[in-house]
Amino acid sequence: MPRNPSDWELNIKRQIRHRYTEQNNSGGLHSDAKVKLKLYGYKQALIDKLPKELISRFSGCGCPVAELQISGHETIIDLGAGAGIDSFLLALSLDSGKVISLDLSPINLSTFGKPLENLPIYPISGDIERVPLANEIADVIVCNAALNLTIDKATAMKEIFRLLKPGSIFVATDLVSDIPLPREIIENPLAHTTSLGGVTTEKNILRLLEKTGFKNITISGHEYEEFTTRVIIKAAK
Ligand SMILES: C[S@@+](CC[C@H](N)C(=O)[O-])C[C@H]1O[C@@H](n2cnc3c(N)ncnc32)[C@H](O)[C@@H]1O
Repeated sequence: MPRNPSDWELNIKRQIRHRYTEQNNSGGLHSDAKVKLKLYGYKQALIDKLPKELISRFSGCGCPVAELQISGHETIIDLGAGAGIDSFLLALSLDSGKVISLDLSPINLSTFGKPLENLPIYPISGDIERVPLANEIADVIVCNAALNLTIDKATAMKEIFRLLKPGSIFVATDLVSDIPLPREIIENPLAHTTSLGGVTTEKNILRLLEKTGFKNITISGHEYEEFTTRVIIKAAK
């Protein structure tokens, strides 16, 4: 039985929706988004394919797309897709597959707009912790800087596991931290709307993935930042 969300959780999710809606409405987070994309592992050839509406709204912390080999026939789910940069790039490499882009913040999906018109992208509004999709429909699940924003990571991982076909893979880029975060971060009212608020240890991520039933788990690509480390998480069902 799925648990009922607490008032606190509902409130945090309202704040997340509000924050990312505002962020997208105001044109995005980074004025130097192209530089960030390059730094985070997007090849120049991929960046050149991105419409400018998407580039400025990049809000990820890595490049899950670079970790995948796509045959062109997959059903891919992009969880916490935001403005849809990864969804867009993945959709470009499909012949007969599709990308389902899920985000909590419905307004983000409206920024998909014209550039995505002819691509097999299906935006849906929803919560990673309660995905409104059937079991075992995905060949690949990607998640760029959104797993940390879930309140209950064990539930989120169970959902990801449920959605994957047997033998399929999950690739996430996210932040981990092994040091106690300073009070000004933890107690910042905005902390839970950024990946910082929900950050956990690498050990905990590993433990949760194992407990869920994932196999061949790797956490790699460590890039150390001031309080957190950017990592690439891969796991198979
Ligand atoms: C840091 S942004 C990353 C967006 C995008 N993946 C990118 O790389 O640009 C995090 C996104 O996750 C979404 N999000 C946060 N919590 C979520 C949840 N529980 N379910 C679905 N989406 C969520 C937010 O609305 C936001 O668009």
